[in-house]
Amino acid sequence: MITISEHVFGEMENDPDGFCIKIREVMQEDYGLYIWPCSIALAEYVWQQRHRFVGTTVLELGAGTALPGIVASKVGANVTLTDRSDANEVFENMMETTALNGANCKIQSLTWGEFDESLFNLEVPNIILGADVLYESKDFDDLFATVSFLLHDDPEAVFITTYQRRSGHRLIEYLVAKWNLRCTKLIDAFSFMPCHKEYSLSVSIELVELQCQM
Ligand SMILES: C[S@@+](CC[C@H](N)C(=O)[O-])C[C@H]1O[C@@H](n2cnc3c(N)ncnc32)[C@H](O)[C@@H]1O
Repeated sequence: MITISEHVFGEMENDPDGFCIKIREVMQEDYGLYIWPCSIALAEYVWQQRHRFVGTTVLELGAGTALPGIVASKVGANVTLTDRSDANEVFENMMETTALNGANCKIQSLTWGEFDESLFNLEVPNIILGADVLYESKDFDDLFATVSFLLHDDPEAVFITTYQRRSGHRLIEYLVAKWNLRCTKLIDAFSFMPCHKEYSLSVSIELVELQCQM
């Protein structure tokens, strides 16, 4: 079954910059075909921090339905949406969703931990986004190998990710130390979600910003 969910940023009537993004969701057993609470939280954060995104190059990893990346493109970033190379239906859905919103995003495959031309030919991102990409512990090292590679050339580049605390409460501290990164922000999503969106946080979500260790 296909549904379209609507996500409003800003107060549409009072905010000349506000907009509504429509996300096409397919109720099927594939993680990338429906929207996860982490995506709603990260998209809201991008909106609230929109001044940081203007003119930047943004890469969304494990984008799935791609709400944070589409919001980043609406506020003036040059965005590439990615997901694993075998996720054909996810890419079809992503194309439909970007068209539905008139969003000018590039779409390409990028599988974490694979070092090939899809990674080497990327424009080096200023900001990497990832919503709920820390959900299967077997993929953590592959994800962080890719993130570390992408952050490695630019000490100002940042990985912003939202995650549910599923795998033990010291997960982020452990990964940061293991991959020689530094945490520049760690906050609870409840601290920035507007009241009318809190309903979408049925689970406890944190947002972390990571940069390369100098
Ligand atoms: C839990 S879903 C989150 C989707 C979306 N970011 C959201 O929050 O709504 C995880 C996403 O990561 C993608 N993914 C899983 N393993 C991956 C890998 N090894 N490389 C790249 N993407 C992967 C999945 O296809 C899926 O889109």
